[in-house]
Amino acid sequence: MTSFANLPIACNDHRVSIIGGGHVGSTLAHRIAQNNLANVVLVDIVEGMPQGIALDLMQAQGMDRHNRTILGSNDYADTAGSDIVVITAGIPRKPGMNRDDLIKINAKIVVEVAQKAIAYSPDALYIIVTNPLDVMTYLAWQTLGLPTSRVMGMAGVLDSARFQTFIAMELGVSVADVRALVLGGHGDLMVPLPRHSTVGGIPITELMDDETIERLIERTRNGGAEIVNLMKTGGAYSAPASATSLMVEAILHNQSRLVPASAYLQGEYGLDDIFMGVPTLLGCRGIEKVVELKLLDTERAALHTSAESVRANIKRAWEMLGS
Ligand code: LAC
Repeated sequence: MTSFANLPIACNDHRVSIIGGGHVGSTLAHRIAQNNLANVVLVDIVEGMPQGIALDLMQAQGMDRHNRTILGSNDYADTAGSDIVVITAGIPRKPGMNRDDLIKINAKIVVEVAQKAIAYSPDALYIIVTNPLDVMTYLAWQTLGLPTSRVMGMAGVLDSARFQTFIAMELGVSVADVRALVLGGHGDLMVPLPRHSTVGGIPITELMDDETIERLIERTRNGGAEIVNLMKTGGAYSAPASATSLMVEAILHNQSRLVPASAYLQGEYGLDDIFMGVPTLLGCRGIEKVVELKLLDTERAALHTSAESVRANIKRAWEMLGS
Protein backbone atom coordinates (compact mmCIF):
# COMPACT_ATOMS: atom_id res chain seq x y z
CA MET A 1 0.00 0.00 0.00
CA THR A 2 1.39 3.33 -0.98
CA SER A 3 1.38 5.91 1.77
CA PHE A 4 2.29 9.54 2.10
CA ALA A 5 5.50 8.40 3.81
CA ASN A 6 6.83 7.27 0.44
CA LEU A 7 6.03 10.52 -1.31
CA PRO A 8 7.45 14.02 -1.05
CA ILE A 9 5.18 15.90 1.34
CA ALA A 10 4.54 19.59 0.83
CA CYS A 11 5.20 21.79 3.88
CA ASN A 12 1.58 22.79 4.02
CA ASP A 13 0.24 19.44 5.11
CA HIS A 14 -3.47 20.14 5.05
CA ARG A 15 -5.14 17.00 3.86
CA VAL A 16 -8.37 16.89 1.90
CA SER A 17 -9.85 13.49 1.18
CA ILE A 18 -12.21 13.08 -1.72
CA ILE A 19 -14.41 10.02 -1.67
CA GLY A 20 -15.48 9.05 -5.17
CA GLY A 21 -13.05 9.17 -8.09
CA GLY A 22 -15.57 10.00 -10.82
CA HIS A 23 -15.42 13.12 -12.93
CA VAL A 24 -16.33 15.51 -10.11
CA GLY A 25 -13.96 13.87 -7.60
CA SER A 26 -10.98 13.67 -9.93
CA THR A 27 -11.48 17.19 -11.28
CA LEU A 28 -11.74 18.45 -7.71
CA ALA A 29 -8.46 16.72 -6.85
CA HIS A 30 -6.90 18.61 -9.73
CA ARG A 31 -8.38 21.95 -8.67
CA ILE A 32 -7.28 21.57 -5.04
CA ALA A 33 -3.73 20.67 -5.99
CA GLN A 34 -3.48 23.27 -8.72
CA ASN A 35 -4.80 25.97 -6.40
CA ASN A 36 -2.15 24.89 -3.90
CA LEU A 37 -4.75 24.31 -1.21
CA ALA A 38 -3.85 20.91 0.24
CA ASN A 39 -2.55 17.42 -0.32
CA VAL A 40 -5.28 15.20 -1.63
CA VAL A 41 -6.29 11.59 -1.01
CA LEU A 42 -8.66 10.31 -3.68
CA VAL A 43 -10.56 7.20 -2.63
CA ASP A 44 -12.72 4.95 -4.77
CA ILE A 45 -13.88 1.37 -4.48
CA VAL A 46 -12.67 0.53 -7.99
CA GLU A 47 -9.17 -0.92 -7.68
CA GLY A 48 -6.52 0.90 -9.64
CA MET A 49 -8.79 3.73 -10.75
CA PRO A 50 -7.95 6.34 -8.07
CA GLN A 51 -4.31 5.26 -8.17
CA GLY A 52 -4.22 5.84 -11.93
CA ILE A 53 -5.92 9.23 -11.69
CA ALA A 54 -3.54 10.27 -8.90
CA LEU A 55 -0.49 9.22 -10.89
CA ASP A 56 -1.75 11.15 -13.92
CA LEU A 57 -2.28 14.25 -11.76
CA MET A 58 1.15 13.85 -10.14
CA GLN A 59 2.74 13.71 -13.58
CA ALA A 60 1.23 17.14 -14.30
CA GLN A 61 2.74 18.66 -11.13
CA GLY A 62 5.72 20.22 -12.89
CA MET A 63 3.59 21.79 -15.59
CA ASP A 64 0.80 22.83 -13.25
CA ARG A 65 3.46 24.31 -10.94
CA HIS A 66 2.35 23.04 -7.58
CA ASN A 67 3.93 20.85 -4.99
CA ARG A 68 0.88 19.07 -3.65
CA THR A 69 0.71 15.33 -3.26
CA ILE A 70 -2.21 13.41 -4.73
CA LEU A 71 -2.61 9.88 -3.48
CA GLY A 72 -5.07 7.41 -4.97
CA SER A 73 -6.32 4.67 -2.67
CA ASN A 74 -9.00 2.08 -2.03
CA ASP A 75 -8.30 2.18 1.70
CA TYR A 76 -9.93 4.69 4.07
CA ALA A 77 -6.92 4.33 6.38
CA ASP A 78 -5.10 6.63 3.95
CA THR A 79 -7.63 9.39 4.67
CA ALA A 80 -6.77 9.43 8.39
CA GLY A 81 -6.59 12.88 9.95
CA SER A 82 -8.14 14.76 7.05
CA ASP A 83 -9.01 18.41 7.56
CA ILE A 84 -11.84 18.13 5.07
CA VAL A 85 -13.60 15.10 3.60
CA VAL A 86 -15.57 15.68 0.40
CA ILE A 87 -18.11 13.01 -0.50
CA THR A 88 -18.79 12.76 -4.24
CA ALA A 89 -19.42 9.00 -4.36
CA GLY A 90 -22.64 7.83 -5.97
CA ILE A 91 -24.19 7.35 -9.36
CA PRO A 92 -24.81 10.37 -11.59
CA ARG A 93 -27.96 11.20 -13.53
CA LYS A 94 -28.76 9.92 -16.99
CA PRO A 95 -30.79 11.93 -19.54
CA GLY A 96 -34.43 12.17 -18.45
CA MET A 97 -33.67 11.53 -14.77
CA ASN A 98 -33.91 14.20 -12.13
CA ARG A 99 -31.65 14.28 -9.08
CA ASP A 100 -34.32 12.67 -6.90
CA ASP A 101 -34.29 9.50 -9.01
CA LEU A 102 -30.89 8.70 -7.50
CA ILE A 103 -32.07 8.46 -3.90
CA LYS A 104 -32.11 4.74 -3.32
CA ILE A 105 -28.63 3.87 -4.58
CA ASN A 106 -26.90 7.01 -3.41
CA ALA A 107 -28.41 6.96 0.09
CA LYS A 108 -26.83 3.58 0.74
CA ILE A 109 -23.49 4.70 -0.68
CA VAL A 110 -23.38 7.97 1.26
CA VAL A 111 -24.25 6.32 4.59
CA GLU A 112 -21.53 3.68 4.08
CA VAL A 113 -18.95 6.25 3.03
CA ALA A 114 -19.78 8.50 5.99
CA GLN A 115 -19.40 5.59 8.42
CA LYS A 116 -16.00 4.67 7.02
CA ALA A 117 -14.68 8.22 6.72
CA ILE A 118 -15.64 9.37 10.23
CA ALA A 119 -13.75 6.43 11.74
CA TYR A 120 -10.50 7.93 10.41
CA SER A 121 -11.30 11.66 10.39
CA PRO A 122 -13.45 12.50 13.41
CA ASP A 123 -12.19 16.10 13.47
CA ALA A 124 -12.78 16.89 9.80
CA LEU A 125 -15.33 19.12 8.16
CA TYR A 126 -17.50 17.26 5.67
CA ILE A 127 -18.72 18.62 2.35
CA ILE A 128 -21.32 16.54 0.55
CA VAL A 129 -21.61 16.72 -3.24
CA THR A 130 -23.59 13.54 -4.03
CA ASN A 131 -27.14 14.05 -5.32
CA PRO A 132 -29.88 14.58 -4.41
CA LEU A 133 -27.70 17.01 -2.55
CA ASP A 134 -29.74 18.28 0.38
CA VAL A 135 -31.11 14.81 1.14
CA MET A 136 -27.64 13.23 1.05
CA THR A 137 -26.25 15.99 3.26
CA TYR A 138 -28.94 15.28 5.85
CA LEU A 139 -28.23 11.52 5.77
CA ALA A 140 -24.49 12.13 6.03
CA TRP A 141 -24.96 14.49 8.99
CA GLN A 142 -27.08 11.93 10.84
CA THR A 143 -24.57 9.19 10.12
CA LEU A 144 -21.51 11.26 11.02
CA GLY A 145 -22.95 12.42 14.34
CA LEU A 146 -21.12 15.74 14.06
CA PRO A 147 -22.22 19.25 15.02
CA THR A 148 -24.22 20.87 12.23
CA SER A 149 -21.52 23.49 11.60
CA ARG A 150 -19.18 20.75 10.39
CA VAL A 151 -21.42 19.19 7.75
CA MET A 152 -22.55 21.03 4.63
CA GLY A 153 -23.62 20.46 1.05
CA MET A 154 -22.15 22.04 -2.06
CA ALA A 155 -24.78 23.39 -4.37
CA GLY A 156 -25.55 27.06 -3.83
CA VAL A 157 -22.13 28.17 -5.07
CA LEU A 158 -22.65 26.13 -8.25
CA ASP A 159 -26.25 27.20 -8.84
CA SER A 160 -25.34 30.85 -8.21
CA ALA A 161 -22.37 30.53 -10.59
CA ARG A 162 -24.70 29.23 -13.29
CA PHE A 163 -27.11 32.12 -12.77
CA GLN A 164 -24.12 34.50 -12.79
CA THR A 165 -22.91 33.06 -16.12
CA PHE A 166 -26.32 33.29 -17.78
CA ILE A 167 -26.75 36.91 -16.62
CA ALA A 168 -23.31 37.84 -17.99
CA MET A 169 -24.04 36.09 -21.31
CA GLU A 170 -27.43 37.77 -21.66
CA LEU A 171 -26.16 41.29 -20.97
CA GLY A 172 -22.80 40.88 -22.68
CA VAL A 173 -20.93 42.01 -19.58
CA SER A 174 -17.93 40.54 -17.81
CA VAL A 175 -18.85 37.75 -15.45
CA ALA A 176 -16.46 39.45 -12.99
CA ASP A 177 -19.03 42.21 -12.44
CA VAL A 178 -21.95 39.86 -11.85
CA ARG A 179 -22.96 38.57 -8.42
CA ALA A 180 -25.86 36.16 -8.26
CA LEU A 181 -27.65 34.39 -5.44
CA VAL A 182 -29.59 31.13 -5.60
CA LEU A 183 -31.18 29.60 -2.51
CA GLY A 184 -33.25 26.51 -1.81
CA GLY A 185 -32.76 22.84 -2.50
CA HIS A 186 -30.41 21.79 -5.29
CA GLY A 187 -33.25 20.65 -7.51
CA ASP A 188 -35.84 21.80 -9.98
CA LEU A 189 -37.42 23.98 -7.27
CA MET A 190 -34.31 25.98 -6.38
CA VAL A 191 -34.92 29.68 -5.76
CA PRO A 192 -32.80 32.17 -7.74
CA LEU A 193 -33.15 35.66 -6.24
CA PRO A 194 -33.08 38.40 -8.92
CA ARG A 195 -33.39 41.18 -6.32
CA HIS A 196 -30.10 40.03 -4.82
CA SER A 197 -28.35 39.42 -8.13
CA THR A 198 -26.41 42.40 -9.41
CA VAL A 199 -24.18 43.70 -12.18
CA GLY A 200 -21.68 46.23 -10.86
CA GLY A 201 -23.94 46.65 -7.84
CA ILE A 202 -27.12 47.24 -9.90
CA PRO A 203 -29.90 44.68 -9.29
CA ILE A 204 -30.71 42.78 -12.50
CA THR A 205 -34.35 43.75 -11.99
CA GLU A 206 -33.29 47.20 -13.24
CA LEU A 207 -31.41 45.83 -16.23
CA MET A 208 -33.74 43.19 -17.70
CA ASP A 209 -37.47 42.72 -18.14
CA ASP A 210 -39.36 40.09 -16.14
CA GLU A 211 -39.63 37.71 -19.07
CA THR A 212 -35.87 37.66 -19.63
CA ILE A 213 -35.20 37.16 -15.93
CA GLU A 214 -37.70 34.29 -15.82
CA ARG A 215 -35.95 32.66 -18.79
CA LEU A 216 -32.58 32.87 -17.05
CA ILE A 217 -34.08 31.50 -13.82
CA GLU A 218 -35.48 28.51 -15.69
CA ARG A 219 -32.15 27.90 -17.40
CA THR A 220 -30.42 28.03 -14.01
CA ARG A 221 -32.89 25.55 -12.53
CA ASN A 222 -32.16 23.23 -15.44
CA GLY A 223 -28.46 24.07 -15.51
CA GLY A 224 -27.37 20.55 -14.58
CA ALA A 225 -29.99 18.78 -16.71
CA GLU A 226 -29.10 20.83 -19.80
CA ILE A 227 -25.56 19.47 -19.57
CA VAL A 228 -26.68 15.88 -18.87
CA ASN A 229 -28.91 16.05 -21.96
CA LEU A 230 -26.05 17.30 -24.10
CA MET A 231 -23.41 14.88 -22.80
CA LYS A 232 -25.78 11.89 -22.54
CA THR A 233 -23.27 9.70 -20.71
CA GLY A 234 -22.52 11.94 -17.76
CA GLY A 235 -23.11 15.31 -16.24
CA ALA A 236 -21.38 18.52 -15.31
CA TYR A 237 -18.13 18.19 -13.41
CA SER A 238 -15.98 21.23 -14.10
CA ALA A 239 -18.17 23.89 -12.48
CA PRO A 240 -19.19 21.52 -9.63
CA ALA A 241 -15.49 20.88 -8.91
CA SER A 242 -14.69 24.62 -9.02
CA ALA A 243 -17.57 25.36 -6.64
CA THR A 244 -16.36 22.71 -4.19
CA SER A 245 -12.78 23.96 -4.45
CA LEU A 246 -13.99 27.46 -3.57
CA MET A 247 -15.60 26.07 -0.40
CA VAL A 248 -12.44 24.11 0.48
CA GLU A 249 -10.39 27.28 0.05
CA ALA A 250 -12.80 29.33 2.20
CA ILE A 251 -12.37 26.77 4.99
CA LEU A 252 -8.62 26.12 4.78
CA HIS A 253 -7.80 29.82 4.45
CA ASN A 254 -10.44 30.84 7.00
CA GLN A 255 -11.84 33.38 4.58
CA SER A 256 -15.23 33.95 6.23
CA ARG A 257 -16.85 33.95 2.82
CA LEU A 258 -20.51 34.65 2.47
CA VAL A 259 -21.62 31.88 0.14
CA PRO A 260 -24.78 29.84 -0.27
CA ALA A 261 -24.42 26.28 0.98
CA SER A 262 -26.73 23.52 2.07
CA ALA A 263 -26.79 24.08 5.83
CA TYR A 264 -28.79 22.75 8.74
CA LEU A 265 -31.69 25.03 9.63
CA GLN A 266 -33.09 25.42 13.12
CA GLY A 267 -35.89 27.90 12.65
CA GLU A 268 -34.15 30.17 10.14
CA TYR A 269 -36.49 31.08 7.26
CA GLY A 270 -39.25 29.35 9.25
CA LEU A 271 -37.66 25.95 8.53
CA ASP A 272 -36.48 23.38 11.00
CA ASP A 273 -34.52 20.12 10.95
CA ILE A 274 -33.60 20.23 7.29
CA PHE A 275 -30.54 20.94 5.13
CA MET A 276 -31.24 23.63 2.52
CA GLY A 277 -29.35 26.10 0.39
CA VAL A 278 -29.07 29.37 2.33
CA PRO A 279 -26.45 32.12 2.60
CA THR A 280 -23.77 31.09 5.08
CA LEU A 281 -20.57 32.44 6.52
CA LEU A 282 -17.93 29.85 5.72
CA GLY A 283 -14.60 29.74 7.53
CA CYS A 284 -12.22 27.37 9.28
CA ARG A 285 -14.84 26.16 11.72
CA GLY A 286 -17.24 25.37 8.89
CA ILE A 287 -20.65 27.00 8.73
CA GLU A 288 -20.06 29.81 11.19
CA LYS A 289 -23.44 31.41 10.63
CA VAL A 290 -26.61 30.95 8.62
CA VAL A 291 -27.45 34.39 7.27
CA GLU A 292 -31.15 35.12 7.31
CA LEU A 293 -32.39 37.46 4.58
CA LYS A 294 -35.70 39.23 4.66
CA LEU A 295 -37.57 37.55 1.81
CA LEU A 296 -40.64 38.67 -0.09
CA ASP A 297 -43.70 36.50 0.50
CA THR A 298 -43.31 34.93 -2.96
CA GLU A 299 -39.63 34.12 -2.35
CA ARG A 300 -40.37 32.65 1.06
CA ALA A 301 -43.20 30.55 -0.39
CA ALA A 302 -40.86 29.25 -3.11
CA LEU A 303 -38.25 28.35 -0.48
CA HIS A 304 -40.86 26.47 1.52
CA THR A 305 -42.06 24.58 -1.55
CA SER A 306 -38.47 23.55 -2.23
CA ALA A 307 -38.07 22.52 1.44
CA GLU A 308 -41.21 20.36 1.29
CA SER A 309 -39.73 18.43 -1.60
CA VAL A 310 -36.41 17.94 0.24
CA ARG A 311 -38.26 16.83 3.37
CA ALA A 312 -40.36 14.31 1.47
CA ASN A 313 -37.22 12.88 -0.11
CA ILE A 314 -35.41 12.60 3.24
CA LYS A 315 -38.37 10.53 4.42
CA ARG A 316 -38.24 8.40 1.28
CA ALA A 317 -34.51 7.90 1.70
CA TRP A 318 -34.88 6.60 5.26
CA GLU A 319 -37.69 4.28 4.16
CA MET A 320 -35.54 2.93 1.34
CA LEU A 321 -32.55 2.45 3.66
CA GLY A 322 -34.77 0.51 6.05
CA SER A 323 -36.12 -1.76 3.32
C1 LAC B 1 -25.25 19.50 -11.32
C2 LAC B 1 -25.01 18.34 -10.44
C3 LAC B 1 -23.64 18.40 -9.82
O1 LAC B 1 -26.06 20.36 -10.94
O2 LAC B 1 -25.99 18.26 -9.47
O3 LAC B 1 -24.61 19.58 -12.36
